Amino acid sequence: MRIMLRGLLFLAPAMLLSGCGQGEVSFADDINPIIEKSCISCHSGTGEGANASKYLMADYAGVIQGTKYGPVVVPGSRMSSSLYLVVAGKTAPEIRMPPHNDESFAQGRGVMLSAGEIEKIGLWIDQGARDN
Ligand code: HEC
Repeated sequence: MRIMLRGLLFLAPAMLLSGCGQGEVSFADDINPIIEKSCISCHSGTGEGANASKYLMADYAGVIQGTKYGPVVVPGSRMSSSLYLVVAGKTAPEIRMPPHNDESFAQGRGVMLSAGEIEKIGLWIDQGARDN
């Protein structure tokens, strides 16, 4: 009985954090593959995103560290996180990511993420943006 109660106490907050039944999003399995496919070419080394904003996305530490202006991930709140806002198209078109319009510095080469990918990033942030 004691063990069961402890289990429940641990489970309840965990379920709240994970958005209750929406499934836990993993940085390694879900988020990093999206970054490698759509972001890393510009946001590492001498890429233009790395140059312009100093946002390096090669690993978890870089993703969390943010740009030269500061963090772009606020764990627990996608709506406070530039990382989510720029991929979800909730910012000025010039800073949508990946860039896909003529006004962009990067000249519109990018394809917007799918709705599923955008939602994964949102959930990962809402669930605490962990290195999981
Ligand atoms: C074609 C190159 C390119 C790709 C691909 C790209 N970015 Fe960017 N990114 C940039 C550039 C250039 C900037 C600087 C924009 C500026 O400051 O005007 C930037 C800036 C950003 C910023 C900072 C925005 C701000 O000003 O607060 C974030 C966050 C970001 N990118 C996320 C991403 C994510 C996530 C992806 C992948 C889904 C991605 N980027 C893909 C070029 C790129």
